[in-house]
Amino acid sequence: MKIRLEHLTKRFPNRNKKIAADVIAVNDFDFEIPDGKLIGLLGPSGCGKSTALNLICGLEVPTEGKIFFDDDDVTKLPPESRGVGMVFQSYALYPHLTVRKNIMFPLENLKGDQKLTREQMEEKVSEAARTVQIEELLDRRPNEMSGGQQQRVAIARALVKMPRVLLLDEPLSNLDARLRIQTREEIKRIQNATGITTVFVTHDQEEAMSISDMIVVMKEGVVNQIGKPQEVYDNPVNLFVAKFLGTPPINVYNGSIKDGGLYVGEDKVLGKDFVKDVKEQDVYVGIRPEGFILDDNMEGKKGALKAELKAIEVMGRDTSVVFRHAASDNQSRAIVTADNNISSSSDEIRFDVDPRKVFVFSKENEERLI
Ligand SMILES: Nc1ncnc2c1ncn2[C@@H]1O[C@H](COP(=O)(O)OP(=O)(O)OP(=O)(O)O)[C@@H](O)[C@H]1O
Ligand SMILES: [Mg+2]
Repeated sequence: MKIRLEHLTKRFPNRNKKIAADVIAVNDFDFEIPDGKLIGLLGPSGCGKSTALNLICGLEVPTEGKIFFDDDDVTKLPPESRGVGMVFQSYALYPHLTVRKNIMFPLENLKGDQKLTREQMEEKVSEAARTVQIEELLDRRPNEMSGGQQQRVAIARALVKMPRVLLLDEPLSNLDARLRIQTREEIKRIQNATGITTVFVTHDQEEAMSISDMIVVMKEGVVNQIGKPQEVYDNPVNLFVAKFLGTPPINVYNGSIKDGGLYVGEDKVLGKDFVKDVKEQDVYVGIRPEGFILDDNMEGKKGALKAELKAIEVMGRDTSVVFRHAASDNQSRAIVTADNNISSSSDEIRFDVDPRKVFVFSKENEERLI
């Protein structure tokens, strides 16, 4: 089922009298979530992710705008009539109930012609438990399981009613690094297996990039960019999106467009083919870590960008080169293949840059220029 958001807005009244403006947690969301896909809703803490999810599931009422599930307008429907399964940021399981009872809970409250017999409930619980691979844990209680297992119980509980939409609010935040990776792959598998349209909220860009069919990057209630993870990474619309995606993060420099070229500080790194008709001005230049090229001798003695070498960290397949350039207050990081023999005795290092990995942003509004 597809979800359509039409000019969806949520304002919270500001209780602080000194600040007149309301908090606009979700500001004019206007896009469609395709049927059967997994969407990552991504942004920093406080940008409105949970609010957006709560609007979709019906726990919050929008100030303006509409929500459609396929062609049904669900804006005014209460949560229990929307057919959504939700896993909350703190996935509260009932501690005194067994896993079986936890998963069965949503089924026990069904009314009228939806009411199920005990056998039907048992059958559905088994099916949900099978999907998330916790059948052997059904008689345990939450405190007798690992975090990852509890997480899967929470997902099973959200799945048991066969929701039309699955909403997951930072479902991995309580897990350790390894379990996070395992569980996110698990979520992807479950989503693939069930084909349920799923919205997955996270502030972790790597998490969102790794499992989403499409990501929605938001900042302060406003959607900045929507697209396939790789497309957004390769083509960020503004500095915020460019900085938000990628580990290690993009390196940002003070630069300028002048004399038919792109300058990083005083170094002319790209020529007129790159800057084309963009007018002369001061800019921010963003260079992805993989966009730095060492010269043919692989010794870092040639190249347009001159920097001070700080450290070389070999990490298996790749080498991470840490350097400082006068046009940035921060240290920079380049990722090159480990075949490069960089002589660490030298203080200076030089790079050329790969134009596909270089983005130029306006200093005025931080929008992408090139
Ligand atoms: N009930 C409420 N009343 C007033 N303001 C609220 C309410 N709920 C959320 N907000 C505000 O709305 C904004 C968005 O909050 P929200 O919880 O949606 O952010 P989030 O992106 O989920 O953050 P996090 O990553 O920390 O969970 C914040 O500024 C928050 O303070
Ligand atoms: Mg939240």
